Amino acid sequence: SLPPVIAIDGPSASGKGSVAERVAKQFDFHYLDSGALYRLLAYAAHTQHVAWSDATSLAAIAAGMDIRFAGGEVYLNGGQASAQIRTEHMGKGASEVAVHPQVRTALLQTQRNFRQAPGLVGDGRDIGSVIFPDAVLKVFLTAAVETRAQRRYEQLIARGEFADYNIILEDLRQRDLRDSQRASAPLKQLPDAILVDTTHMNITQAVDMIVTAFNKVA
Ligand code: C5P
Repeated sequence: SLPPVIAIDGPSASGKGSVAERVAKQFDFHYLDSGALYRLLAYAAHTQHVAWSDATSLAAIAAGMDIRFAGGEVYLNGGQASAQIRTEHMGKGASEVAVHPQVRTALLQTQRNFRQAPGLVGDGRDIGSVIFPDAVLKVFLTAAVETRAQRRYEQLIARGEFADYNIILEDLRQRDLRDSQRASAPLKQLPDAILVDTTHMNITQAVDMIVTAFNKVA
């Protein structure tokens, strides 16, 4: 039988990445940061002067991307791309390229290839709905938009980058809308997903909830 999948979906800046990575570590599972794929595509398109609205060209680029994760870094066609894709600009680009069904189809198999023994933790928007609908555990990880904006703000400041709380809040609201109202694989809480609201919870508590839930179903 196929290795088990824990699907963690939720809005931007909900802490999915940190939580998913730690859950994966707990079980020695592989980890798929699906948002990184959309960010890499936005970045690749940007360097090739392809518009984020050009679905056909984007799908062709997506089909040719060689993506590797190693040691917490991401590599595109052999070159390190971590810093380049972690910007607010590429986050916005990711959410723009991600609306095209052709793009989502082009990245589908890439994501499914990450399902390897002994198991996988995947985070994104449609991991439980489209990529791995047979995930043994589905989590909807979220937090109030103001809390997410505050956390993103602190992250940027800690990295020594410019940050304006109100701009971040407005960006997150727009991204939430774009991600949840698009026709293709919109973000939504699935009926079979457990809700983990981290508005008043730290990372450790969120990880513990998910680990406990997985131990019950595994
Ligand atoms: O999770 P992250 O912020 O890196 O994702 C960037 C953007 O990529 C999201 O705002 C969303 O539009 C898109 N995305 C998606 N499906 C996924 C993961 C990310 O549409 N599974």
